[in-house]
Amino acid sequence: MTKGVLAINGGEPIREEVLSFVPVEADVEKEDIEAISEVLSSKRLSQLVSKKVNDFEESFAEYIETKHAIAVNSGTAALHVALAAASTGPANDVILPPYTFVATANAILHQSAVPNFADIDPSTYNLDPREFEKKITPKTKAVVAVHMLGQPAEMDSIVRIAEKHNVVVVEDCAQAIGAEYRGNKVGTFGDLGCFSFYLNKHMTTGGEGGMVVTDNGELAQKVRSIANHCRATTSPYPQVPAHNVYWGIGYNYRMTAVQASMGISQLRRLDGFIERRRRNAKYLTKSLENISGIRPPFESPHGKHVYWAYGALVLQREMGVSRDDFARALLAEGVKAEGYCPIPVHLQDVFKLKAGYGDTTFPFDNPLYGGKLIYEKGLCPKAEKLSSQDLLLPVYHTLTEDDLTDVVTGVKKIVENIDELKDRTEVLHSPP
Ligand SMILES: Cc1ncc(COP(=O)(O)O)c(C=O)c1O
Repeated sequence: MTKGVLAINGGEPIREEVLSFVPVEADVEKEDIEAISEVLSSKRLSQLVSKKVNDFEESFAEYIETKHAIAVNSGTAALHVALAAASTGPANDVILPPYTFVATANAILHQSAVPNFADIDPSTYNLDPREFEKKITPKTKAVVAVHMLGQPAEMDSIVRIAEKHNVVVVEDCAQAIGAEYRGNKVGTFGDLGCFSFYLNKHMTTGGEGGMVVTDNGELAQKVRSIANHCRATTSPYPQVPAHNVYWGIGYNYRMTAVQASMGISQLRRLDGFIERRRRNAKYLTKSLENISGIRPPFESPHGKHVYWAYGALVLQREMGVSRDDFARALLAEGVKAEGYCPIPVHLQDVFKLKAGYGDTTFPFDNPLYGGKLIYEKGLCPKAEKLSSQDLLLPVYHTLTEDDLTDVVTGVKKIVENIDELKDRTEVLHSPP
């Protein structure tokens, strides 16, 4: 084959060092290191012997504007403990969208509840409130509304429907810290809001971490206790102190003082991180919006999108090549952009095969629940379509101007030489 212009055909790539769609390094500044060093020097490293976690919780509650914040050691732990506090279990199903990270579904399974998928709104990529209502069963205990990629979900409708049917609302804000819906921060609309501080999120607590927020004092106390082995706060036994009494199935999901110290210092800079992401997204949209075959993400007029990732679409009919072929060509140019979940969660093997606990199909099929949900293609057609079209481009706050220019140049280079890519993919995909 003669050498083409595109790097995938042997041409010069736009950049040598591959840029990933999410950061692989945290933004660690001097103040983070000083904060961590201070805790290390104190030698009081765990939540139970230090005030740091409590300080972080207070700052976080103030930032989100909720009454209570409970720190845990991951976003998955936050979701699990929130669903546990909401009393979900094997007799219930919990509604969730399938265009999400598998952790949303795993937290439901960890509680032995049955995941019940409802389709998304293809413009926001978030749970469609009408689909949510259609999926409610007499056994539905909760809904997890995910704010995907940083775009707030339609919380007014979701909360209204949930109240009508007596369903608990848990918000999965892992990708959307600081996002707003009608002027209020996400995490404040549902009964419980869950956040992640994993390395590639807007802010991190040393690589892993999470938080649950709520305005409900009873739920807050339950979350705090379940995340610490269901340790009681009062003892019914005169001879036994409360810290030796355990009232249910609990976990050790405690955040450490070291993690919390970094959380405090990152939280101080969070609004700056978010503004840079929004500025980067604006630049990408301005640069890409007139390209036929690429659709920039929609920004809801009543929301503030915080761009954990920049979820563009590659429209095959207009572009002439698939999202995957486009992504392969972009990778060769030095920009690693991907579909978020090429297999939507409801079509993952764990669901299709109902791969449950101890080689059984529990909790998917279980006598306490009764009904048998089936996870198959066609269950959520809009999410299935989106999973073949979305292309996540880098947008994070540590990108330089040159990095952003490379992203745009890479996309434009492929579009301008699309025939070269079409010829190549026709050869690759044609039958032998
Ligand atoms: C939508 C969503 N939910 C939940 C999680 C789980 O968070 P963590 O990785 O902190 O457990 C993540 C993050 O990875 C996520 O993106």
